[in-house]
Amino acid sequence: MNRALIIYSGGLDTTVCIPLMREAGFDAISTVTIDVGQPAEDIAQATERARILGTDHHVVDAKAEFARDYCFPAIHANADYFGYPLSTSIARPLIAKAAAEKAREIGGVAAFVHGCTGKGNDQFRIEYGLRMFAPEIPILAPVRERNLTRTWEIDYAERVGAPIGQSKDKIWSIDENLWGRSIEGGRLEDPSYAPPEEIFQWTASLEDAPSTPQVVEFEFEDGNPVAIDGTRYSPLDLLTVANRLAGRHGVGRIDIMEDRMIGLKVRENYECPGATLLLAAHKALEALVTTHAERAFKQHVDAQWAEMAYRGLWWEPFTGDLNAFIGSVQRRVTGKVRVRLFKSSLQIVGRESPWALYSEAAASFDDSETLEQSQMTGMVRTHGMESILFARLGKS
Ligand code: ARG
Repeated sequence: MNRALIIYSGGLDTTVCIPLMREAGFDAISTVTIDVGQPAEDIAQATERARILGTDHHVVDAKAEFARDYCFPAIHANADYFGYPLSTSIARPLIAKAAAEKAREIGGVAAFVHGCTGKGNDQFRIEYGLRMFAPEIPILAPVRERNLTRTWEIDYAERVGAPIGQSKDKIWSIDENLWGRSIEGGRLEDPSYAPPEEIFQWTASLEDAPSTPQVVEFEFEDGNPVAIDGTRYSPLDLLTVANRLAGRHGVGRIDIMEDRMIGLKVRENYECPGATLLLAAHKALEALVTTHAERAFKQHVDAQWAEMAYRGLWWEPFTGDLNAFIGSVQRRVTGKVRVRLFKSSLQIVGRESPWALYSEAAASFDDSETLEQSQMTGMVRTHGMESILFARLGKS
């Protein structure tokens, strides 16, 4: 038996891989769909198409693991790649890991097959993850390796009778998981084209968002959001609730210029309501409990973490080193944050923590116990001393 395992989304690219791999000589085809929170219809469609094409199909529910071990660490690192909360990026390593585990379970898999194109970041992330966990199994990427185009794929699917449904009429390329939704393709590629309302599914438009504000209270323990408005949730449920709350108020639409790994600058649209809300709340609490030196350094660490996450290098030692620092800081990120949501805006309106470094008494103008102002005179005198000496040099 010569078996291929296709990492299967049910979309056009991965669906054409099924007959293509049969033609390439694989006499057994397995397909696996990793559920990281894409719409239930997508999972069902993949299952249906796999059934029609007669593959040995598997669905892995990785939602809880994704929420706990990928999205929550992203919160700790204030995930931000030039405005992008890294929603697609952080799901890829898990998809690859789960596919490698499935391959081991099925046994005798001679090749992995994925549908990534040659222009995106996902090819790097997926193949790295597969090589990490199943280095002995070769990887095929037919769309990239054979230079396939959409038009060719549609034509081919029709010729061989592969079910591709409305793929023909689909204008946008969408990738969805619990941490957010990426929308690309079609006219959106032109940065001067305003995103049409129809691309958004999770966030209300400015017009449709409620005309009364809503204040939401988050409770954090060790950097993990654990409760919303007094109700405790599992990581998975908490993300679902956060997405709904922020989405209802139209919070989390993102339109950026993005620098892809291959050096390509592209325009990207995202809607990440829950991520936007949780990242803002987490940052606000971190700011209350960390020292200036920690904050200044963590900005750099977070930026490095984002670079690694964008590259999909989840298990690289450096990522672990960064996580060690980030994790150490999280031990004091405990407390409550209140956020006001209104007409696509988000405002921090309150924060409290047993670890707060803020002292009202010390900051107050009326206090003379913590620090008497007159004591500052000497310290102020030496401020900028070197600069003053330097300026004098020029005069002589
Ligand atoms: N540009 C984003 C990233 O690289 C989103 C990619 C979306 N992927 C997709 N297959 N539609 O993380």
